[in-house]
Parts: sequence; structure tokens; C-alpha cells
Amino acid sequence: VKTIGVLTSGGDAPGMNAAIRAVVRTAINKGLKVKGIMRGYAGLLQEEIVDMDSVSVADTINRGGTILYTARCEEFQTEEGQKMGAEICRKHGIDGVVVIGGDGSFRGAGKLSALGINTIGLPGTIDLDIACTDYTIGFDTAVNTAMEAIDKVRDTSTSHERCSIIEVMGRRAGYIALWCGIANGAEDILLPERYDGNEQYLINRIIENRKRGKKHHIIINAEGIGHSTSMARRIEAATGIETRATIIGHIQRGGTPTCKDRVYASIMGAKAAELLWEGKSNRIVAYRGGRFVDYDIQEALNMTKDISEEQFEISKLLVR
Ligand code: F6P
Repeated sequence: VKTIGVLTSGGDAPGMNAAIRAVVRTAINKGLKVKGIMRGYAGLLQEEIVDMDSVSVADTINRGGTILYTARCEEFQTEEGQKMGAEICRKHGIDGVVVIGGDGSFRGAGKLSALGINTIGLPGTIDLDIACTDYTIGFDTAVNTAMEAIDKVRDTSTSHERCSIIEVMGRRAGYIALWCGIANGAEDILLPERYDGNEQYLINRIIENRKRGKKHHIIINAEGIGHSTSMARRIEAATGIETRATIIGHIQRGGTPTCKDRVYASIMGAKAAELLWEGKSNRIVAYRGGRFVDYDIQEALNMTKDISEEQFEISKLLVR
């Protein structure tokens, strides 16, 4: 491998720039050339490819978002799109690619690899929903942003003696909701992996808690369940307690990355460039059991994971 490309794909995540920076600088240190592929696979198909050097990534480690921009690309899900992508890589002399994104992006990376372009994936998503890894780039920042926002909602919720339903991101997964639920001491946490839709149970708990003298009732609702606004209306009608819904939204995807996201993303980025330099392909860099490791892409995509039962049980125990 002489020249590598790097791209970010899917939803952006804080720490992606730290990963890009590490890929670029590690590769250059190893004597490789680096090209930035703009706007994910969509930019690849449009040949939006720029030369990168050490200076291209200066002043980026502290910046949220992705300097390479990102996109979701349907065309790259087709065989034709994938073949065209591999051809474009060859045309630009790119024989290795680092793809920073989620599962969808890794499927594309696997295809590129099968078409002869050495490819390494890095887990970049705030959702933590990648089975092969205990850590994804951006989760730590997102969960801290959400936690701080929820603290603020809690202040006003207590002052007005209200019930608040606060919806956090996570797509179909409840990791952000569970972590915030514990960190914010929420009275209830609704996770797509566990919630059975029993609203009457929530209503009874709100009424009981009010009788016990609790001034607020914070419910963290995961995006995968959604419907926070209509849920708030029904709960207010059933309990007689003023209830508001707050959907935190995209603020969770932005902002300067936390120390953990900068450091872990840097380590993962460096490892991705090293794997390409060693001639490896079709791998995903992961963090598992306290170590940075790598897996075959198909093997990783076939893995499953669930939220921690222990964590969920503790979250319930601590609010009683
Ligand atoms: O995957 C990251 C994420 O922020 C999810 O939590 C959310 O479901 C989705 O992306 C939102 O995507 P968009 O920004 O395209 O609305």
C-alpha cells in the first residue's frame, strides 16, 4: 500500500477529526501518501478527493464534526456503485481506505475490500450501537452533552414541580438513554431494548412519587421509542401533574470532543493506518475488554450485543 484515502460516513460524531488526524499523521510517518475523500461514499463517487498532509489536520483535534464532511449514500449500496467506487480509488492511486462510520459504512468497506481496495473501518457513532466494540468515537462526548442538558431541564422541572420526559438520541439503541438515566438520576428510563409500553406503570409511579414528596419526575426516553410529546400529554391527563417533553436533538452530535474521545479516536486512527501499512484489509478496529483490537468486517457485522443488564438493574435500584 502506497497511498491511502480516509473518509467519514453516516452521522458525524465528535472525535472523528481526532481519528482523521491520527490516520493522516501515522500514515505519513510510515511513508505513505494520504488523500481525503470528502462527503463519504457519495464524495468518492463524485471524485471529491483532495491531497492531505500533516498541516491539513492541524488545529482539528479539538473540533467537533468532521472536516471531511459526511453523507449517507444509497448509490454505494448497489453493486454498480461499489464497483465504481473501487475504480475511482484505483484511478486516484488509492490502494487502501480508512472508513470512519457505523455498521452501514462498514458494509460498504467490506465490499470495497472484496473489490481489491484494502479497507479498515473505525467505529464512529454517538449511538454506541456497534456490536464488536465497547466504545465508539463520539459516544462519550454525546452522553456528556446530553447529561448536562438534562441537568438543566431538571432544574426547571423541580422548580415547577413537573414531570419531564426527555428524549435522547441513539437510533434503535438505548445506550445514551441508559447512561444518562444513571448519570442524571432519572426516575424512569425507557429503552427500546426493554420498554414494554406499559404507560400505566409510569403513571402509577409518578403519582406514588409525588405522594412521597418528590418534586419532579424525570423520564429519559430513547429516540428508538420516541413519541415523547404525545406521551407527555397522556401522562399529564392521567396524573394531573404538569408534564413537558424535551427532545434534545442534534446538540448531542456537536461540540468539542471530550478527552476520552480525543485519546481513543487518536489510538484507533493510528491503528487503522498501521493495519493498512502492514497490508491488512477487511478489518474493523474495536475496543473490547480494555484493549484495542481488530476484527474481520463480516465477523464483526454478525456479532450482536445488548445493553448491560447489570447497568439497567442498578439504574432502577438507585432511584427507589
Ligand atoms: O447515528 C447518529 C444519529 O444521531 C442517531 O442517534 C439518530 O437517530 C440519527 O443519527 C439522526 O440522523 P439525522 O441527523 O440524519 O437526522
